[in-house]
Amino acid sequence: MGGTTVRALDGVDIEIPEHTFTVVMGPSGSGKSSLLYLLGGLDRPTAGEIIVNSQRLDLMDENALALFRRKTMGFIFQSFNLVSSMSALENVAFPMQFAGITASQRNEKSKVLLTQVGLADRSDHKPSELSGGQQQRVAVARALINDPLLILADEPTGNLDSQSGTTVMQMLADLHKAGRTVLVVTHDARMTRFATHKIFLLDGRVVSESEYQSAALQPLQP
Ligand SMILES: Nc1ncnc2c1ncn2[C@@H]1O[C@H](COP(=O)(O)OP(=O)(O)O)[C@@H](O)[C@H]1O
Ligand SMILES: [Mg+2]
Repeated sequence: MGGTTVRALDGVDIEIPEHTFTVVMGPSGSGKSSLLYLLGGLDRPTAGEIIVNSQRLDLMDENALALFRRKTMGFIFQSFNLVSSMSALENVAFPMQFAGITASQRNEKSKVLLTQVGLADRSDHKPSELSGGQQQRVAVARALINDPLLILADEPTGNLDSQSGTTVMQMLADLHKAGRTVLVVTHDARMTRFATHKIFLLDGRVVSESEYQSAALQPLQP
């Protein structure tokens, strides 16, 4: 930023085993989104290696990365990121349209997924005709459409009331139980009860849970 170098992440060395539910906790600005975008191949590191499913993401060109993302990752964002002009069904089917699959197969699979997230009766609704919780459930269905190995969620409950947030968290926990690898970044402490692994971030560095807790207890500087 101008003359200042921001180290969004600094010396982060982590391993996320398959079939785990990892929760990355950190206050605003600690580097959570940066970490998730790097793992998801949405962003590139200035230095270091990122290996997902034995493949070096940091060495891939844009096309390879786009293909890898589509085949391997499912993304869920705080602000849902649904396409406003498309129905719920079309939104779920959308990431599949580049995969060389017929429209009827795409629709069939999207319907199954919308049913799984409890929204079969909302298939034809546009995002503006759905509540926040329903929109995020559509986003969960969309994240699953290409059978991803890894599900990455950036503050998925951040824009939801607590009941809808719990529903979405429970869905992510169920996906983990069904064998998927799930990584959620959040500053919502309630998320950690679903976690098999926890990572704590402060100022772009990974810290221990005790260091994290004691930092949280520091009063704000006057
Ligand atoms: N495009 C950018 N240019 C400069 N600094 C950025 C940019 N994006 C994020 N940052 C900085 O990087 C740090 C980490 O940001 P981010 O990963 O978004 O944190 P979090 O998701 O935990 O709130 C913050 O200090 C933020 O101000
Ligand atoms: Mg963020």
